[in-house]
Amino acid sequence: MSHANFHSHETLALILAAGEGTRMRSKLPKVLHKVAHCSMVGHVIKAASDAQVHHLAVVIGPDRDDVAAEVKVQAPQASLFVQHDRRGTAHAVLMAKSALMGRHVVVMFGDTPLVQPSTVEALLAPVLEGAAVAVAAFEPQNPQGYGRLLMNEGQLVGIREDKDCTLEEKHIRLCNAGLMALHADHALALLERVDNQNAKNEFYLTDVVALACEASLPRAVVNVPAEDVLGVNDRSQLADVEAVLQSRLRQKALHAGVTLQAPDTVFLATDTVLAADVVIEPHVVFGPSVQVEEGAVIHAFSHLEGTHVSAGAHVGPYARLRPGARIGAGARIGNFVEVKNATFGEGAKANHLSYIGDAVVGAAANIGAGTITCNYDGFAKFTTTIGAGAFVGSNSSLVAPVTIADGAYVGSGSVITKDVSKDSLGVARGRQVNIDGWALSFREKQKINRK
Ligand code: UD1
Ligand code: MG
Repeated sequence: MSHANFHSHETLALILAAGEGTRMRSKLPKVLHKVAHCSMVGHVIKAASDAQVHHLAVVIGPDRDDVAAEVKVQAPQASLFVQHDRRGTAHAVLMAKSALMGRHVVVMFGDTPLVQPSTVEALLAPVLEGAAVAVAAFEPQNPQGYGRLLMNEGQLVGIREDKDCTLEEKHIRLCNAGLMALHADHALALLERVDNQNAKNEFYLTDVVALACEASLPRAVVNVPAEDVLGVNDRSQLADVEAVLQSRLRQKALHAGVTLQAPDTVFLATDTVLAADVVIEPHVVFGPSVQVEEGAVIHAFSHLEGTHVSAGAHVGPYARLRPGARIGAGARIGNFVEVKNATFGEGAKANHLSYIGDAVVGAAANIGAGTITCNYDGFAKFTTTIGAGAFVGSNSSLVAPVTIADGAYVGSGSVITKDVSKDSLGVARGRQVNIDGWALSFREKQKINRK
């Protein structure tokens, strides 16, 4: 947050996040639903923090430790206010009365996650020039559910909520995007005059427009791109917003020099970091907290979360990298390999059909097909350490805690329960016995029995 010193009044971004979100039909509060793996309120906080405003406050519902915790993670500097009864958006704003005093305010909704910092600033501009209220307006594809802007001779005279619209008013396409800026000198007086004489018996923030009009105070309409202000009230709108954000994230990656062979099939998280010259094949899914360094290739149908992939590494096809996977430079994680909380050194390989969990794999080690780290006994997790240049034969089980030292070999099909020392061979499987002529005599006996 930077400081706009050019004006006498300070500015506040106030995020409303106390609504119950009943239309989501969810146990989770609406604003904690995620878009590209970041909560909706998290997205709004990010936009507010990146905008030129001095202060940030969030209004949350009662007993919402989960929402409070998310706000603290995203913006430790934000002040929190609790709205005990949900009596509408104007009522919610007044919960933050002490933060409003003497400040211009931009009200933002926690359910409008695609909002940009530039939108916040665009809304403050007319207020800094004397407007009492500025409303963000857009024309959604489907205006249902949005408040309609009532215009008279080019002037904004009011906002009518969807539920209160006459049939005629329902045809108005220009809608309230939800963001509203109020001038420090008028905010409280206007808000305190809002009543609840409407279809929902709620105190509507939107009513301040008609009140400003009655008081002959200047109102401004700021047109904003529809994509930036889509509101989420149900799961269908959540999916719409996810689609928009995914396409933004893909474009950002492409512009940063990442190859996406089939962008529409790649799903990114808000915090995915992809370096230049990374290649992502089709159908790759990124969960939260993944970084991929320069020149790495993520092959088709891989799933990554909480993972760091170093330069030039190859992952997949069909790999699963779970939290704590750290793949070294030039390392290879092949098809149907699952890695969790494990570090692969430079050039190490696990090319086929393995589970490597709670492990450290040294540089240039080779993990054969079907190797499993047995890291869990039903109660605790244990570590497997595989040294640099070690070679683990196919279909081995490594029962942790266990160490395969540098340069050691493990015979294929072993169940390793004891450490294998440097440059040694560990074999742990039944010894092979060959019986000459056994098959021939077996067949002869079968023939006699069947006569
Ligand atoms: C609101 C606007 C509508 C606008 C639309 C844009 C009002 C009355 N209506 O409608 O004009 O077109 O957003 O998306 O403002 N909240 C509280 N406390 C409350 C009620 C709501 O904190 O008592 C919060 C919610 O968490 C939500 C936001 O305010 O983040 C908006 O509430 P919501 O019920 O979604 O309003 P809409 O019906 O979408
Ligand atoms: Mg809404």
